[in-house]
Amino acid sequence: GEQIELPKQEWSHSGIFGTFDRASLQRGFQVYKEVCSTCHGMSLVSYRNLTALGFNADEVKAIAAQYTVMGGPNDAGEMVERPAIPADHFKAPFPNEQAARAANGGAYPPDLSLMAKARPGGEDYIYALLTGFEEPPADVKVPDGMYYNKYFPGHLIGMPGILQDDSVTYTDNTPATQAQLAHDVSAFLAWAAEPHLEARKQTGVKVILFLLVFTGMMYAVKRKVWADAH
Ligand code: HEM
Repeated sequence: GEQIELPKQEWSHSGIFGTFDRASLQRGFQVYKEVCSTCHGMSLVSYRNLTALGFNADEVKAIAAQYTVMGGPNDAGEMVERPAIPADHFKAPFPNEQAARAANGGAYPPDLSLMAKARPGGEDYIYALLTGFEEPPADVKVPDGMYYNKYFPGHLIGMPGILQDDSVTYTDNTPATQAQLAHDVSAFLAWAAEPHLEARKQTGVKVILFLLVFTGMMYAVKRKVWADAH
């Protein structure tokens, strides 16, 4: 299909030495929780994974306890709901795909756990998508229940442009512009899709340093061993 140029964003986690911005990830989680999670699940993430964002154990417990999940059967064999615990995975907004489609005019809001790895452009694409809702060109007819997005392949998407300035109220005084909300939630989704990014990069740097030192040592050894060769 048509190639659309994605604007590149600045991410603290890009580059060899890049690390996640914890404050941004926490705000991004808030955006996911208050906006995206009405329609999108993140079934691969559990509440306890949020400690990586800087939440402590009590905060994670409190976050989990805001949800009820289906627990095991009681003595009478009936399934009973219970408050979620840190080990539970994020609660899905709909019981199944059929219910999700029914609530979204037939379109299916995909699970966002790995979304930052699933589309070309990753977090740049997610940011572009969230800020790319606009008036359609005059010759484009947008069917009922669909919306025009500059960056969605084919442009007609079944998701409304939900992020506006102040859609979420941040508690750390960061101005909640649409751009900031989109940035934070995209960073959060990048973390979810690759929680071990920092460890991976650190290992890479160590390996390169080791190889540099090792090469130098082997060169010194070679000079010594061959010093008397004629
Ligand atoms: C699709 C992100 C909020 C409904 C998507 C896609 C992404 C995404 C990345 C996939 C696009 C693609 O296939 O390339 C988000 C984020 C949200 C959010 C980060 C919060 C900031 C919502 C909300 C709703 C919704 C609140 C429901 C009112 C949908 C639907 C689709 C979709 C129905 C499928 C669209 C289609 O295939 O035509 N969303 N979304 N999303 N989203 Fe959202």
